[in-house]
Amino acid sequence: MNQEQTRTGRQLFGTFNPQDLLEKYGSPLYLYDEQTFRSRCREMKKLIDYPGFTANYSIKANSNLSLLRIAHEEGLFADAMSPGEIHMLEKAGFEPERIFFIPNNVDADELQFAVSHQVMVSVDSLSQLALLGRTAPGIEAAIRLNPGIGAGHHKKVVTAGKKTKFGIPEDQILEALQIAETYQLKIAGINQHIGSLFMTPDSYVAAVQHFLELAATFPNLRLIDFGGGFGIPYRKMSGETRLDLKDLGQQVTALVREFAAHYPNQVTFKIEPGRYIVAESGALIGRVLALKTQGGTQYIGTDLGFNVLMRPILYDSHHDIELFRDGNSLFGQPETPFTVVGNICESGDILAHDRLLPQAAEGDVIVIHDAGAYGYAMSSSYNNRLRPAEVMITTQGQDVLIRRRETFDDLLALFPDA
Ligand code: LLP
Repeated sequence: MNQEQTRTGRQLFGTFNPQDLLEKYGSPLYLYDEQTFRSRCREMKKLIDYPGFTANYSIKANSNLSLLRIAHEEGLFADAMSPGEIHMLEKAGFEPERIFFIPNNVDADELQFAVSHQVMVSVDSLSQLALLGRTAPGIEAAIRLNPGIGAGHHKKVVTAGKKTKFGIPEDQILEALQIAETYQLKIAGINQHIGSLFMTPDSYVAAVQHFLELAATFPNLRLIDFGGGFGIPYRKMSGETRLDLKDLGQQVTALVREFAAHYPNQVTFKIEPGRYIVAESGALIGRVLALKTQGGTQYIGTDLGFNVLMRPILYDSHHDIELFRDGNSLFGQPETPFTVVGNICESGDILAHDRLLPQAAEGDVIVIHDAGAYGYAMSSSYNNRLRPAEVMITTQGQDVLIRRRETFDDLLALFPDA
């Protein structure tokens, strides 16, 4: 950490005073930085140095329409988990050939939705493969394999290996090819996703290497997708270092080139980053509303319940927290342990346990950093709380509303008799 960071904490997307933004847009508020988002898109787009390589933005991390439009403009492709995600991508301007549908446990109508929208589908079990065959015989499709290697920050987000629900295991590949033949499905692609948030290249590179060995046994591939999971440093305030993307990119590029030199067909290689692209472009901003000491614990009571950010309660995830008073960061002031809580009626509604923070006061602004991925996307209106507004700081330095805050009318909108 350099001197400047120590004095001012983590600059919040330029010179904006977070208090002014809360006054303008209401609290809590999700704030995004266009420049950071664009830079991350560009980093991912050039991860693998091979002709035709594409990065699919995994929109489950954040499907704000304005961000999707920027991802499209930056030349990213995208993956979708549901017809709703396909719909959002289409609305943002993504052409069918730039969308890859990689669902888990869908019905025939959902498969048909993708097929009729000319979107390439990947299925991840033998029964879903047979369903696809019955639904759309003769099409070109992909299968998601479970390569047996998993990685991730929490067991809930490890998506390969023996203990997950995802993918077709290696010992069922032959059977998968037989099912494909029954319905004249052409297996033109294979994909994998080992899990979310790895911070060193090794597990991903090992998974790529293994995946390419499997790929060599398929005769007619034109698409190989290695999945996402690229981690970001959530503990920047304690000096956590970044994932070495250059090293990872070089290692994967070497493997890809070696594979392509021997494989008979021209193949497009893909990755599926979600978090890496959007996490660091987003911060969640709220207010300190109450202070309390109980049972020896000092609590900071905020308006940031798990309705707005689920990650800490779901996975014990860490987000750097910074307090601001009168527009200035309190970072660098003497710290004591505080437990930071929200306003939801559950005792698990905790953003951070015993976190070292400066002495907070009512009226302070609280910033939760790196909340752009799986923040708003996993928010809810639990306790009939209104979902926050989303605002973007543009590359020209303007604050622009990119999703309005919910209203009481929104709470009633779905009731036919309201
Ligand atoms: N591809 C597939 C098939 C996935 O299942 C996922 C994430 C991704 C790509 C993107 O992974 P990423 O690059 O964002 O790590 N809610 C959790 C993360 C769940 C990830 C689910 N799958 C969290 O907040 O940490």
